[in-house]
Order: sequence, then C-alpha cells, then structure tokens
Amino acid sequence: MTDAHAIDSLGWERRTFVPSDAFRSNALVSDHSLYEEASQDFTAFWAKQASELVSWSKDWHTASEWNLPFAKWFVGGELNVSYNCLDRHVLAGKGDKVAFHFEGEPGDTRTVTYAQLLDETQRFANVLKGLGVVKGDRVNIYMPMIPEAAIAMLACARIGAAHSVVFGGFSAISLTDRINDAEAKVLITADGGWRRGEIFPLKHTADEALLGTPTITDVVVVRRGGNEVTMQDGRDHWYHELMAQADPVCPAEPMDSEQLLFLLYTSGTTGRPKGIMHTSGGYLTQAAFTHKYVFDLHADTDVYWCTADVGWITGHTYIVYGPLANGATQVMYEGVPNFPGNDRMWQIVEKYGVTLFYTAPTAIRTFMKWGDHEPAKHDLSSLRLLGSVGEPINPEAWMWYHEHIGGSTCPIVDTWWQTETGAIMISPLPGVTTTKPGSATFGLPGIGTELVDESGEHVERGGGYLTLTQPWPAMLRGIWGDPDRYRETYWSRFSGRYFAGDGAKLDDDGYLWLLGRVDDVMNVSGHRISTTEVESALVSHPSVAEAAVVGALDATTGQAIIAYVTLRGGFEGDEQALRNHVAVEIGSIAKPKAIYFTPDLPKTRSGKIMRRLLRDVAEGRNLGDTSTLADASVVNELQRRAAEAPAED
Ligand code: WTA
Repeated sequence: MTDAHAIDSLGWERRTFVPSDAFRSNALVSDHSLYEEASQDFTAFWAKQASELVSWSKDWHTASEWNLPFAKWFVGGELNVSYNCLDRHVLAGKGDKVAFHFEGEPGDTRTVTYAQLLDETQRFANVLKGLGVVKGDRVNIYMPMIPEAAIAMLACARIGAAHSVVFGGFSAISLTDRINDAEAKVLITADGGWRRGEIFPLKHTADEALLGTPTITDVVVVRRGGNEVTMQDGRDHWYHELMAQADPVCPAEPMDSEQLLFLLYTSGTTGRPKGIMHTSGGYLTQAAFTHKYVFDLHADTDVYWCTADVGWITGHTYIVYGPLANGATQVMYEGVPNFPGNDRMWQIVEKYGVTLFYTAPTAIRTFMKWGDHEPAKHDLSSLRLLGSVGEPINPEAWMWYHEHIGGSTCPIVDTWWQTETGAIMISPLPGVTTTKPGSATFGLPGIGTELVDESGEHVERGGGYLTLTQPWPAMLRGIWGDPDRYRETYWSRFSGRYFAGDGAKLDDDGYLWLLGRVDDVMNVSGHRISTTEVESALVSHPSVAEAAVVGALDATTGQAIIAYVTLRGGFEGDEQALRNHVAVEIGSIAKPKAIYFTPDLPKTRSGKIMRRLLRDVAEGRNLGDTSTLADASVVNELQRRAAEAPAED
C-alpha cells in the first residue's frame, strides 16, 4: 500500500540551519572526510571504526561476509561486549567516572561509577552462572528504568547469554509469548517501579506470565518499589540476597564477533511479534561509532541523557551499549516527564548539567502542549546538542525544540533507524550537515540508502520507498527461529535490498524526509504496533465478530489507534471493556483511542476490508470514489460518527 496521503501532505520546509562556528570549532568532525572515506570502500571504513572504537581479544580475518540476506561482520574476531563497556575504562584509570546519574521518580538518586558498574556486573554474571545460565542461553529481562536493568544486560553479555528485554508496559500475555518464543531460562524483574507517583507491580504481572512459561527455572527480583510480592520457593530469588553471596570476580570471556548479544521483539505486519537478532562485534562498532559522531560525544565533559526506556532498541543502543562503550557519563531517569510537575525533564537537565539530550517527537509535542513557561523555569544553557528519534518530527516541533530547549543555538540531529538496523542510519553529523527542520538529512558514512518506486526503480526526487542498499555492521542477523520470515519480510519486496517499511521523499537538494510507515505498522508515540496485532486482540474478545484497526494522524502521538468493530449477535458494544481487553492482551500502549461499533465493515466486493478508506474516515478526509465498495452506506454512517469527537483516555 502506498502512502500517497502522507507523501502529498508534506509541504516544503525552506528554513536551513548551518552548524555554528562555535559548534564546529569544537566538533569531532567538521568536514566531509568521513563521508569520502566511506564512499571509497564502506567495508574498509567500518573495519577502521571497529579497530578504533572496540577492543578485540582476537583480530578478525575478514571484515565482512555477505551472503544476501545474511551478513557477518569481523569474522573470526573475538571480543567481550561487557569488557568494552566496563573493564577497559576502569583499566584506563576511569573507574571513578560516573556512568549513571540515576534519578528515581520519587526523587531518590544514585551515582553509579564505572568501577561500581563493573563490580555489580561481575557479581551478577556469577549469579546467573550459579542459576545454571551458560553461553548461548536466553535470559528475559522485565524491569523498570533502574541501573540494575543495564547491569542485567551487561552480565548476560559478559557470559555470552543473550538477553531479551521486554518493555515493562507490556502485559503478562505479551511477556509469556516472548519468553516462550525465546525459550528463556531465567527471568529478571523487580517487585515494582515508579510511574506517575504510583508503583506499577511488575512482579505481579510477571507471576501471571510465568504460569505459562515452562522453560523458566529461576526468577531474580530486584527490590525497587517496596511493594508486596509473592516469592515462589525454589524459583524466585531476591537480587540483593544472591548478590551478597556472589563471587566478585567474573572474567570477561572472549566471544565470537557473531555471538548472539540479544533478541528484541518488535511488531511486524503479521500478528506475531518477531525476535530481532543482534550479534556482538558489528553491533557494538556501529553503536559506538554513531553514539560518538552523531552526538559529537566529548566523553570527558559531556553529560548525555537519552529519555528512552531500556525496553526499546533506543535504550539498548543509546543508553547501554553505545554510551558505555564510549565511556560516557549519562543520566538515567525512572519515571514519567510530568511527575511531580510538567517541568521534571528540565529540572533534571539543570540539576545534572545535561549537555546532550535525546528524545522523541511525541515527547516534544507534549512539552509544547504543556507550554513554553515550563522549560523557561530552568537554566538549560548546559545543553549543546539535541536529538530526536522514533517518528518523523514535524517542522513546528523541530522549531520549538530548537528555540525553547536548545536556546536557538543547539544543533538538532533527527536520527532515523529501526530495531532491525540496530543503530542510527540516517542523520545529520552536527558539525558538518546543514539541517532543515523535519528532515533527517542524509545516510551516515558507511550507509547506503536509496529511494525506489513501486517497481524498484531509482527515484531521484520526490516520494518513494526507503531501501538500504548495502550491509551494515549493526544490521539484524535474522528473526529468531524463522529465517524464511526474515528473508520474506525485509529482502523480498525489492530484490537485493533491504526494505525498511518507510516512505520518504527527496527534495531538490537531495535531503531525505521520512514520511512514516507504508505498511500495516502504526507508530504511536514512537512505538511500533501492528494493526493486525490489535485486531487479533479485539477479535479474541467474546463480543467481537470482526475488527479493523487503523492508525490515524494525531497531533500529539503521531498516530492514534482507531478501531472499527462489528459485534456478535446478542452483545452490546462496551468500548471501555474492549480497550481494557487490548491492554491485557498486548499492553496499555496498544489501547485504541477510539472504538466505533458498526454493523458492517467497508469491504471490497472480493471481501477485503478497506483499511485505507477507514483511515480516510478516521482522519476526516473526503472520500473519493467508493464505487468498489460492497455497501457504501456503511461508510456514510461511519463518517457521520467520526465527525463527533473520539473518546480520550
Ligand atoms: C520510525 C526506533 C522518521 C520509522 C529507533 C521506523 C522514524 C520505525 C525516525 C522504527 C525518524 C524512527 N524519522 N521516522 N527519525 N526514527 N522512525 O523499531 O517508521 O521502534 O521504521 O526503532 O520508527 O521503530 P523502532
């Protein structure tokens, strides 16, 4: 399905922002040399980055092996990812450097140095070993945003177990599915975490999930919320008790460059989430490279803050692996941006003197809604660079970010990438690129991007499908347990190239403007949710006969989930009950914003639900020709009702 509407809707933004002399004079890169070098030979370029940014215990013999669509990077090389993130900094005398300024939502704080992080990681790696976890096993992590989440991930990396982090907002059923797909041995969770002044009871949800997970033998529970939990004898253990007894030394064993580092589940166009596989050497190289150069990291002086949750890829690459590999000092914040007040983020920026700030457009639009006076309450002059990720950033939000957060001086890096790409692919380099509000600009050095039309032909200007033309070090290595689905999903639409699922447009200066998904994946507040998944959840409710779900444009969340439901005979439509049902099946992030009950769904004469038309209805557009519809009156009725305001949470 093409996204003609999205492509049409984008007016041209003509403002440009040249990197200031002040920024350039201090920037790590201020000319085109990296681009030039990479365009000569991208494999050699990445090999150079791998030697410069990563410590290897054994050199690779081949930089890259490419058997389309299967890639290997730094073949024959060995490294330990946790050594790269911890030991080498401590060995270099930086043990006292702060890794995390942790800020709990209730206001409690912890300062975690690299030496402490290394110590806890070693102990926890020994805890995992003690529970029988060995290299190659999978470990599930279901945690709040606390340092132990990073420690758990690094401990897995240290012993060669792959982690699979599940975002704490996902439901018990989602957790069960992910644990079972990965056949994980151990689950690491917490009693609860803080969110908007209340505890969300993670262990309680995990207990429900664990009723259906035969492979889990042990559960480790971090005490964070202090809420009451049930501990099952023999299976459940308190983190602090195991840690108190753990051996403090766990040597970082060298791992193959292609050792599985983690699985991260993400929504695709079909119902079942897929376990995206990332490995070690290539992933770490690109994570470190992009974190260093896109954010212009000066590790000795910068204070970096990425507001993502570790449950998403952004948290993996730009809170854990990239920043720690680079020895950065960062802020980690547990809670929501409006507790206790709407200025919490700016208070934290001021408190820690944050210099590099990375967040999502949906958050920026929310901050705009809360008003200019909130950031104005604080001294934000420490900031020197801003980043954006997760969805297209509209020019208004970009300008607001620039003026009200960046004091009209900070460059903005709008970074396009995906769970599958592992690291940033399209972004300005802040000391080099002239930016335009709303454009992610160009592919980074070493990355091949190309827009193509429906038939795969090169598009020079205007709209098209975004593809990636050459392998990159952090690329996904496959879908866990399903190589065919991997090939089919990413490599079959356009032969020989990776299709990202996004539409984009090239302007007259060759700048890329991302336009959003062109498939059945919605992007709600920067989270990927598949329409099919929400439809399946709705249909699993006893009252529902059929459901169609679309993502409609939304001023704050980018897209909002709108559902059209036909009921089984004898049932009353209960919108709240259905929304709650979706929250139980998937998680609250997938709750439809509005549900319309309709006696019929608009279908083609061959019986296909016309989702595109439903999206037009949901977005209040005039419908063109509806003559292909089996029953046009259905749509008239839906349109009439859509004109009434949709329900809010
Ligand atoms: C969207 C998040 C426009 C895009 C890192 C992509 C963006 C999906 C941007 C991946 C951006 C991410 N501009 N769109 N800067 N960044 N996207 O896997 O549709 O959660 O395909 O990874 O988010 O979402 P994911």
